Amino acid sequence: MILPIVKYGDETLREKAVPVSFVSDEIRKLAADMLETMYKARGVGLAAEQVGRRERICVIDVPKDCEKEEYRESNEAAIQMPLVLINPEIIASEGTQRDNEGCLSFPKIGSPVTRANTVTVTFLDLAGMRQTVTVSGLLARAVQHETDHLNGVLFVDKLSQEQLLSIAGKLQRLKTATKRGK
Ligand code: NI
Repeated sequence: MILPIVKYGDETLREKAVPVSFVSDEIRKLAADMLETMYKARGVGLAAEQVGRRERICVIDVPKDCEKEEYRESNEAAIQMPLVLINPEIIASEGTQRDNEGCLSFPKIGSPVTRANTVTVTFLDLAGMRQTVTVSGLLARAVQHETDHLNGVLFVDKLSQEQLLSIAGKLQRLKTATKRGK
């Protein structure tokens, strides 16, 4: 089932998600709906707040960077997409990367964001089993962006004053449209 995506200006996006205590069929259904919603919107990641839910869940599906030799040698090659992260916590991070970032809650708005290049994230999978993986590049960027959402943090919070100024008009128009739509 495709769910409506919450846009910037809606206070739901500022809420801190509530950890999932048990991975039930209802949670699995929510994850499936979130994936369907993300694919329809052509996104690479989606957090529960973005569909108006409070559970600490996010979904990610990024194209694999199979061309890189480092990638083939990394344990990332074994990670199956899509990734459903339940109660994700980043427990280690290393290096930096800077690239353009967008968000399904900010249609047609993007700006470069500096993130850690590599992160280790621990989470529960759809079977309720604890998993810990170390990822880099775009996948690491997506993991950081989505776990931020679950903490009520948005990519625009990471921008410099200068960057914010350059998209201020677009942000204001989006916020006004979101508030009007409620
Ligand atoms: Ni986002």
